[in-house]
This record gives sequence, structure tokens and C-alpha cells, in this order.
Amino acid sequence: MDRFTKTYRDPVPPPRRRTRSMFTANAVFSAAFLLATAALAAETIDPGALKRLVHQDCGSCHGLTLKGGLGPDLRAENIQHHDVDSLKFVILNGIPETPMPPWQPLISEEEAEWVARYLLDPETME
Ligand code: HEC
Repeated sequence: MDRFTKTYRDPVPPPRRRTRSMFTANAVFSAAFLLATAALAAETIDPGALKRLVHQDCGSCHGLTLKGGLGPDLRAENIQHHDVDSLKFVILNGIPETPMPPWQPLISEEEAEWVARYLLDPETME
């Protein structure tokens, strides 16, 4: 029996150390998986979920009632300087060098457009 075979048959192999890079790889895979599920879920518009997004996620900066906070007042009467397309653009791309984040990784173009229409005219989107 040569040295290699003996090592190979060792009944108690040394424990494999989990390295930092394995953890990083895991994190990257989980993030990719989350994005993939978000993209799949994004194929249909779920008004309830999008309203929650607006009031909770957007609301965390723009105020739960959208009256403004860290970010400006987003109530319909205050954003009439925007049209659906410009709002959709801001939502998808964020505003560079400000805390306004891009939502592109999380919502689809259709969803961003829904949110834009909802902000401009909440009544028609009930
Ligand atoms: C992390 C904080 C934060 C979150 C979350 C956030 N925003 Fe913003 N948003 C801001 C800030 C700050 C500004 C103002 C940026 C500037 O100085 O121009 C802004 C600006 C905007 C504007 C431009 C307003 C105008 O009058 O031109 C729109 C529209 C907007 N946000 C929509 C949204 C929507 C919709 C969401 C949720 C999908 C959202 N924001 C989530 C911080 C945030």
C-alpha cells in the first residue's frame, strides 16, 4: 500500500475548514436566488403588494403617509411636476448622490409604472 492510498483510506479525514470565501460565495448565491425569485414574482402585478411597498418601503424615507421625511412629500398634489415616465425613471434608477435608491433590482418596469400611476392618482388604482 503506497502512501497515497493510505491517506485516501484514512477513516477520519481532517475536517474541511469553512473558509471566508465559502461564506462569501454562499451570500452571493443567496442574493442571486432572491433576485431570481423577485424577477419571477414580478411577472404579474400584485396591487396589494405594491401598495405595501409604497407605504412601507418608500414610506420608510418618504413618511408612512408619504407626507415626506428624509425624502420629499410624495402625495399626488406634490408630484404633479412629474408624469408617469419621469416618475417611473426616478423609481427604477434612483437619484444618484442622494439617499433615493434605484428599485430596478427589486421591481419590474411594469411594477414601477404601476407605482408611478398610483402615486399620481391613488384613487384610480384602488
Ligand atoms: C432610503 C430612503 C429612500 C427610500 C427607501 C425611497 N426614497 Fe425616494 N427619495 C429619497 C430622497 C432623499 C429623495 C430626494 C433626493 C433629492 O435630494 O433630490 C427622494 C426622491 C424621490 C422622488 C423625487 C421627488 C420629486 O419631487 O422629484 C420620487 C418620485 C421618489 N423618491 C419616489 C420613491 C418611491 C416610489 C420609493 C419606493 C419605491 C422611494 N422613493 C423610496 C429617499 C428615499
